[in-house]
Amino acid sequence: MNGILISFEGIDASGKTTQITRLESYLQEHGFDVLVKREPGGTKLGEKIRDVLLDPASHDMHPRMEFLLYSASRAQLVEQDVLPFLKRERSVVLLDRYYDSSTAYQGAGRKLDLAAVKQVNHFATAGLVPHLTFFFDLPLKEARKRQEQEADRLESSGDDFYERTRQGYLKICAEEPNRMVRLDASQPPDEITAQILEKVKTLIRIS
Ligand code: TYD
Repeated sequence: MNGILISFEGIDASGKTTQITRLESYLQEHGFDVLVKREPGGTKLGEKIRDVLLDPASHDMHPRMEFLLYSASRAQLVEQDVLPFLKRERSVVLLDRYYDSSTAYQGAGRKLDLAAVKQVNHFATAGLVPHLTFFFDLPLKEARKRQEQEADRLESSGDDFYERTRQGYLKICAEEPNRMVRLDASQPPDEITAQILEKVKTLIRIS
């Protein structure tokens, strides 16, 4: 594998998508081949799963079904797009969410068995671990303020769910300090960009 895989995580409305776009432009300007994908979805089949997952009409979906659908979408994305892209020279894949979302949302948030979640994560991704993962940390109150009126199914989940999810992310940060970078997402966007670039430059030689 020649390429670099970087994932972006955080509870909803934490501003990660803006930062992904900025990093994509920066890397392209420096001669890298960049692929950006979002989860759930990112492939034709995965987008169909995304529609099912985010549809408010899916409100009675069992947490195990939810988890397996996210995992199914992820497996397709890894095999169809991510792994082939990483074989290229000077390639970088930026993922807007990856398996840490399942550990945090389905494991911690929905209280599914964590060992099982981690096992399925490994299976779905064929063991593909990101080189770097940015966690956009935002207190619940701030996240709620930022959210638009129209809530999708997950965004209409309760505050306790969000708090557990956030704690789930913080636990991953504590367990994997080399991979995980916690960012204070309440900072001005330019400061966050600077912190991301600083970290990425430690990983990728940019000339
Ligand atoms: P999306 O609208 O893409 O939100 P965001 O812009 O915050 O990424 O919706 C994705 C939602 O799915 C989000 O609420 C997080 C949730 N999710 C999980 O619960 N588990 C997962 O494994 C993934 C990838 C996402």
